[in-house]
This record gives sequence, structure tokens and C-alpha cells, in this order.
Amino acid sequence: MGTDVNETPFKIEPLTDTDLLKALLARRWGDDLMMFGRTWKIGEYEAIVARDDNGEVLGIATHAVQKTTILALTVDNFSAVRGVGKALLDRIAEIGREKGARVIRVLTTNDNTPSLRYFQKLGFRIVALYPGAVMIYRTVARNLPEIGVDGIPVRDAIELEIDL
Ligand SMILES: CC(C)(COP(=O)(O)OP(=O)(O)OC[C@H]1O[C@@H](n2cnc3c(N)ncnc32)[C@H](O)[C@@H]1OP(=O)(O)O)[C@@H](O)C(=O)NCCC(=O)NCCS
Repeated sequence: MGTDVNETPFKIEPLTDTDLLKALLARRWGDDLMMFGRTWKIGEYEAIVARDDNGEVLGIATHAVQKTTILALTVDNFSAVRGVGKALLDRIAEIGREKGARVIRVLTTNDNTPSLRYFQKLGFRIVALYPGAVMIYRTVARNLPEIGVDGIPVRDAIELEIDL
């Protein structure tokens, strides 16, 4: 390992501390997760975190199994450390396989072209487009921003999948 911050080692572990979960999700999502056509309350999904050697949280992902699909509700790398997002998705894949899932499904929005590039580079393919969905989600999850990446209005939900 060199001194480059991007080479910081980290580990992925379950997150069961509800207060910490709420605080971490509040960084980007606020209290209400509204996605995949419904709201998700604490307890209806599970979470994993990436922590560095000092225990600092680098990133978080949340997931829930629906029949033969494991939904990655959120995936966030809060740090500059490379590989956190991929490691979180790899762990979700392991959990999904253990629980009998056959695919991972993720959701992003029309503005979020970096995540569209990212997911497709990892092998995900677009399987659904819901024009205007975010405008409906916003009536429930009021924290959802109006303007997203590159100043693009956030309107549409885009779902992607990868086989397990
Ligand atoms: C999307 C996100 C989770 C990616 O996490 P990350 O830790 O930065 O990504 P990783 O380091 O694991 O990248 C894995 C691979 O994807 C590539 N990649 C990362 N971001 C990319 C991008 N914007 N475009 C293309 N490729 C990208 C990396 O180069 C890497 O490829 P490599 O292994 O061939 O070098 C992170 O950027 C993030 O937190 N974004 C904000 C939240 C978000 O939009 N989440 C997704 C919707 S819920």
C-alpha cells in the first residue's frame, strides 16, 4: 500500500445501529426512502457499510429481497477511496445469492449520468424507465432534489439489473 488516499484499505460489514443508519442516509436521502414504487421504512431493508481501519464510515448501501431480486435501494461512497461502491455491490451480490436471488436491481435518476456510466461499466443493463416517477416520489419524499447532476431537473427513474 502506498500513501495515496485512494488505496485506503476498508472492510464491508452489516450496519444494525438504527441511529447511525438514519444519520448516514440523511446525508443524501433524508428520512424517507421512496423508490421502486413504494416507501421503505427503517426495518424493511438492511444496510451494509464500508469502514476504514479507524472505523470511519466510507460508504453505505441498503438492500432488500423481493422474490428472486435483491434490490440495492441505495449505494453511496462518501469518500475518495476507490472501489467502495463496487465492494458494497459485491457484498449485496453475495447476500442476494445466499437468499436465493437471481438478479440485483438498482435505481438511478435521469440526471445521474455518472451512476449510469458506473453501473453499465460494472455490467448492469437498463431494464425499466419510469418517466416522471421522481415527480410522484417527491410528493412523499419531499427531500428529493428538484435539480440534480449538472443542473439537470430530476424527473425520471431508471432501473438496471445484473444477473447473479
Ligand atoms: C456511484 C458510486 C456509488 C460509485 O462508487 P465508487 O466507489 O466511486 O466506484 P468504484 O470505485 O467502486 O468503481 C468501480 C468501477 O467503476 C468505475 N467508475 C466509477 N465511477 C464511474 C463513472 N462515473 N463513470 C464510469 N465509470 C465509473 C471505476 O473506474 C471502477 O472501474 P475499474 O474497477 O475498472 O477501475 C459513487 O460514485 C457514489 O456514491 N455516487 C453518488 C450516489 C449515487 O449516485 N449512487 C447510485 C444510485 S443509488
